[in-house]
Amino acid sequence: MVDFSAMEKDLSSILFNEKQIETRVRELGELISRDYSGKNPVVIGILKGSLIFMSDLIRRLTIPLNIDYVAVSSYGRSTDSSGVVRIVKDLDEPIEGRHVLVVEDIVDTGLTLRYLLDNLQSRRPLSVAVCVLLDKPSRRKVDIKPDYCGFEIPDEFVVGYGLDYAENYRNMPFIGILDRSVYEGK
Ligand code: PRP
Repeated sequence: MVDFSAMEKDLSSILFNEKQIETRVRELGELISRDYSGKNPVVIGILKGSLIFMSDLIRRLTIPLNIDYVAVSSYGRSTDSSGVVRIVKDLDEPIEGRHVLVVEDIVDTGLTLRYLLDNLQSRRPLSVAVCVLLDKPSRRKVDIKPDYCGFEIPDEFVVGYGLDYAENYRNMPFIGILDRSVYEGK
């Protein structure tokens, strides 16, 4: 067992352990592989949060595909969405005429995805679908529903498996609820 206690001590609880995540990612992989058979999609990861989910998910996709990345910034160092989305790194390749699958770690207010989907749609892809690992529907500010979702979660601040607080905790292989004492009063 690898010891992650230096970061785990900041959690109030673990929400999904490695095994649970692995099982769900495998299920999503089977579903998506079936739906995208013969479609040669381009799978677009939204950096940085989707980094780990994306790399695990694409290794469970049994179909030919391409990958690309977009880096966006919306939160800065706060725990609350500002609604301001900025593309920090754009796609490397055009997506016109392609089936696109966007991979996100979490959808919260939906503002980031709304902006990105509108942006991607304007490039005339054949289709655009979204796969998120975590969905926090109670926080939604715009009407958006992911096509594929790993887990629905309550309104708690979660970190690990790519998700950060102030750029920390992304490398924990499990997902936990960050203890309020870590960010309250800051
Ligand atoms: C997080 C997450 C989503 C977005 C979701 O990104 O990765 O992109 O917030 O929130 P929303 O639904 O309220 O828009 P963040 O800006 O923290 O960047 P990161 O991916 O680099 O962690």
